[in-house]
Amino acid sequence: MLPFLQDLAEQAARELDPRWHAYLETGAGAEISLHEAEQAWHTYRLRPRVLRAAGAASTAVEILGTRLETPVAVGPTAYHRMFHEQGEVATAAGARAAGALMIASTRATTPLASIAAAAGPWWLQVYLTRERAAIEGLVAEAAELGASALVLTGDTPVLSTRARGRDSVAQMPLDWHQVNLGRHLRPEVDAMRAIEQDPAASLEDIERLAELSGLPVLVKGVLRADDADACLAAGAAGIVVSNHGGRQLDRAVATAYALPEVVAAVGGRAPVLVDGGIRSGVDALVALALGADAVLLGRPVVWGLAAGGSEGVTTVLDGVTADLVEALSLAGVAAVGALSAADVIAARR
Ligand SMILES: Cc1cc2nc3c(=O)[nH]c(=O)nc-3n(C[C@H](O)[C@H](O)[C@H](O)COP(=O)(O)O)c2cc1C
Repeated sequence: MLPFLQDLAEQAARELDPRWHAYLETGAGAEISLHEAEQAWHTYRLRPRVLRAAGAASTAVEILGTRLETPVAVGPTAYHRMFHEQGEVATAAGARAAGALMIASTRATTPLASIAAAAGPWWLQVYLTRERAAIEGLVAEAAELGASALVLTGDTPVLSTRARGRDSVAQMPLDWHQVNLGRHLRPEVDAMRAIEQDPAASLEDIERLAELSGLPVLVKGVLRADDADACLAAGAAGIVVSNHGGRQLDRAVATAYALPEVVAAVGGRAPVLVDGGIRSGVDALVALALGADAVLLGRPVVWGLAAGGSEGVTTVLDGVTADLVEALSLAGVAAVGALSAADVIAARR
């Protein structure tokens, strides 16, 4: 982990309400996947080249038509008002200043229109809700507000039992829960039940969301080659390799290990993004060399948000990108697009 991220994590631990901090940091079950995530990136080694005039390496990328200054993006995390009074509006502004993509969560706690107004390029993460009208209304709104893709999270048919902070979400103010989904509910329904995860979400929902929104739909939470294939066959425009930051199925395989088989299965047909335990530009470089098109940061962005609002978010994204630039130069690679699997090798154990 980059030292400045460690400092921000410690500051967040000191300053946040303990209920919100527990929600932020927890994993599922015995937190085995949570603890393995970072370590798994460390099991690769780089194969640098010499004398390649790779001075100021370029980090610009284009993903599904979205041009970004950096492949380091803001992953979807819920409930940003737990961490800063301006919530997701500050996160979006921070990402924009860094030239980074912002993926707003279905469970954002500030109005989507304000997030869209503050953001540069942004996508909406989608949880299918029991009352489909709620999420479908939000998706239609996102399309109107200029979201350029949807990210359908597929690993959360039900919420897992978390190791810590189990009561935190129940203690949130009601309006944080309903600020976005509430607009799309009929008055007669039980609002809190209506916006729960729908355990019946299926591959068919990919096409349905694409038709409804006119937007490309990526599927998040994929950890297997056959699943990546199935998602693409069902109409997915991209894949996000993720185990939800170790918060859903404990002992789900580390993303650093799952990424190569997913990249091989996708075979260049669609972009592949990855998240989980990425805490430096060198981690990002390994992911990009293994075939990812971009990496998402979950907790580190929230540490920045908690410590310094939008500027803190920019600091995190800029800092990880600067570390990536340095690592690219040292590896003798002039641009992220020039990385390949030949640049990494499994560490000898
Ligand atoms: C506090 C928190 C809230 C999250 N909320 C969501 C969410 O609303 N939707 C989603 O798809 N993933 C959610 N995730 C998972 C992240 O998108 C991401 O997969 C994970 O945090 C990446 O790992 P990292 O935190 O180690 O960077 C959440 C993660 C955290 C830490």
